[in-house]
Amino acid sequence: MSDKLLDVQHVTASFQIGGLLAGSRLIAVNNVSFALANNKPEIFTLAGESGSGKTTLARMLLHDLDPTEGSVLFEGRDLVKIKSRADNLEFMRKVQPVFQNPFETFSPLRRVEEYLFDTAIHFSQARNRREAAPVVDEALRQVGLSLEEVNRRYPHELSGGQIQRVSVARALIPQPRLILADEPVSMVDASLRMSIVNVFRKLRDEHGVSVIYITHDLATAYYISDRIAIMLRGYVVESGPVEQVLDRPLHPYTQLLQESVPKPAAADRKSWANHIELGATEVKEYTRTGCKYAGRCPHVMSICRQADPPDIEVDGRTVKCYLYTEDNQTIDQEKSRALQPVSNT
Ligand SMILES: Nc1ncnc2c1ncn2[C@@H]1O[C@H](COP(=O)(O)OP(=O)(O)O)[C@@H](O)[C@H]1O
Ligand SMILES: [Mg+2]
Repeated sequence: MSDKLLDVQHVTASFQIGGLLAGSRLIAVNNVSFALANNKPEIFTLAGESGSGKTTLARMLLHDLDPTEGSVLFEGRDLVKIKSRADNLEFMRKVQPVFQNPFETFSPLRRVEEYLFDTAIHFSQARNRREAAPVVDEALRQVGLSLEEVNRRYPHELSGGQIQRVSVARALIPQPRLILADEPVSMVDASLRMSIVNVFRKLRDEHGVSVIYITHDLATAYYISDRIAIMLRGYVVESGPVEQVLDRPLHPYTQLLQESVPKPAAADRKSWANHIELGATEVKEYTRTGCKYAGRCPHVMSICRQADPPDIEVDGRTVKCYLYTEDNQTIDQEKSRALQPVSNT
């Protein structure tokens, strides 16, 4: 058995684009690598503006889209090698998605418990409805609901927070090893977000489930993540333990994000409950050469516009920025300036 639950190796996804930029390719995910350990469940967050490539990356992790380059391995096995129906079912049992819009997951014409019973039977957790009832009830209880509460209800008869918890419960029925939640709370009222993301913490702590949490909301990201990767235009620009990345960011882009976070924050993660959302990425910025942040970066140097920055290991995290390259004397001066704490006045 592999020592990695999930191993994402230099994955890239590019699309042919039309319109003004017709004929060129948009690299939605660009050379992204990270891994989750097999024996240590954690919450790994992918945070980035809308249009930064999060969903495209998620599709590759879910075996819904093959990478243009690179590979995704789950339990040591390359996803492109999963072809038979049985293997696919087994993969889907172990890696379960939770999507942004629960009202797209659940048809308005079907009672929600039908989905839960179907899922239990589909993944062989039960042979019939009678056997499925306790399985479904148990999954609902893990998210603070019960079969009694949702039984015979249609989606519109539940609140946004409840229906999203039902979709998390649905994902739990096959007893997955990994939950991949793509913006699971972005359509949920801000006051209810913490109660939903807290379910992920409970899953990690009590059930050993790993979670990839995708969001453009840094507040919930800070609150629940063990590690975080900050995405910008298809690249991961900085990744590492969440306190380091968000409290002491190295990349100028992460530094900009940090300024949007209320202070003081570090001591009490709950103070991040204020809702911090990232903006949207313009498609044309994807096609720039070099660092995608160069146009906005206060520390930009000429090299930044010439070629992609390398990934550099600094102080327990990985940062994609020329400011931290060791061997470049001309950069040292800039680097010391960049490392000054960001003033928030
Ligand atoms: N199937 C596709 N064909 C062409 N472009 C796509 C496709 N899927 C995503 N994109 C583009 O890739 C970029 C990243 O999109 P996406 O992964 O959805 O970002 P996010 O989830 O961070 O908002 C966007 O510019 C989007 O328009
Ligand atoms: Mg998305």
